[in-house]
Amino acid sequence: MRINIGSDHAGYSLKEELKPYLRDLGHEVVDQGTHTAEVSVDYPDFALPVARGVADGQFDCGIVICGTGIGISIAANKVRGVRAALCTNAYMARMSRLHNDANVLALGARVIGGGLARDIVDAFLAVAFEGGRHQGRVDKISAIRDA
Ligand code: RB5
Repeated sequence: MRINIGSDHAGYSLKEELKPYLRDLGHEVVDQGTHTAEVSVDYPDFALPVARGVADGQFDCGIVICGTGIGISIAANKVRGVRAALCTNAYMARMSRLHNDANVLALGARVIGGGLARDIVDAFLAVAFEGGRHQGRVDKISAIRDA
């Protein structure tokens, strides 16, 4: 898969840990930054290029990481066509794909460790959207505009 990844300073170390893991699994990974943990940055600045790349169809999916995963998932979800899911376990990650057709995985680097993050990523990448009764629900998400 072609995976677009980005984080703020709080997510930098986990991003750097996941990149070689994903590449070893055979995925292509493009890093949208940030490129150091030493400089405090704003997570929306990294959510946007990840989310845009996924929405544009340049990437199969995205991974966004901040301290909690909350801010960067909220930001990514502002981009039309993006369904970012903040997951703290593998079950959530699997269901976010099967039922919600999530196309961006959000992780909180101050919430979970690297081992759990790898399990979550594995679960997220392992399955595809089930469609069926879930398609209409996802369509209704897309139909919500400035409610
Ligand atoms: C940065 O201190 C922190 O606020 C950010 O990484 C994230 O947790 C926000 O949701």
